[in-house]
Amino acid sequence: MGMTYFRRFRMEIDLRSPLFTPPRLPPEYQLVSWTSGLIDAHAEAKFHSFCYEIDANVFPCLGELEGCVRLMREIARRDGFLHEATWLLTHDRGPDGLDYCGTVQGVRDSEFGAIQNLGITVPHRGHGLGTHLLHRALLGFREVGLGKAYLEVTAQNTGAVKLYHRLGFRRVKTVYKAADVAYA
Ligand SMILES: CC(C)(COP(=O)(O)OP(=O)(O)OC[C@H]1O[C@@H](n2cnc3c(N)ncnc32)[C@H](O)[C@@H]1OP(=O)(O)O)[C@@H](O)C(=O)NCCC(=O)NCCS
Repeated sequence: MGMTYFRRFRMEIDLRSPLFTPPRLPPEYQLVSWTSGLIDAHAEAKFHSFCYEIDANVFPCLGELEGCVRLMREIARRDGFLHEATWLLTHDRGPDGLDYCGTVQGVRDSEFGAIQNLGITVPHRGHGLGTHLLHRALLGFREVGLGKAYLEVTAQNTGAVKLYHRLGFRRVKTVYKAADVAYA
């Protein structure tokens, strides 16, 4: 194991300006609002979104299903947890049942809405679903009267940084997160 410092960007967006328009959600996908019975479903979507990604090094709990369940429980117990900004995305596979293919959670952090762990599982990426889920979470912040939102993204996660930038988030600060990383 070795201690590594990951560079992360804090990015913010003004919710009082018009928000980007998300693409229409294809009919086989559905946004599902939060209930506490969905902890395992969110954890499953989170695990399959993050397990092979850089953030599973930064936050090792994201690399294990059990870790994702613990993290979901912890987020849902926070004082600032906002069910209005917490959404699950499901994919209807017809007779083969439902996939949990996306998740986002939102919490209130003083006058900001804070996005936690936006994730779309690999087979469903690149179709505008991440944009859609993020938009829904930002509307949730607005619904509870918040005027600004932020997120933190690992600098190496260039696809996500580009996506947030394109949607109107601006970099305001660089922070460093220490993590023990196993080297092969
Ligand atoms: C980051 C993440 C959530 C993006 O999800 P996504 O559903 O692929 O996002 P989108 O489809 O909305 O946007 C991704 C790209 O698809 C393109 N796209 C958007 N709508 C599209 C559509 N209807 N058809 C085809 N492509 C589309 C976008 O232009 C975007 O391209 P870009 O790379 O030029 O920005 C996803 O890659 C992920 O879960 N990554 C791993 C976890 C992670 O790192 N999360 C971020 C933590 S901060």
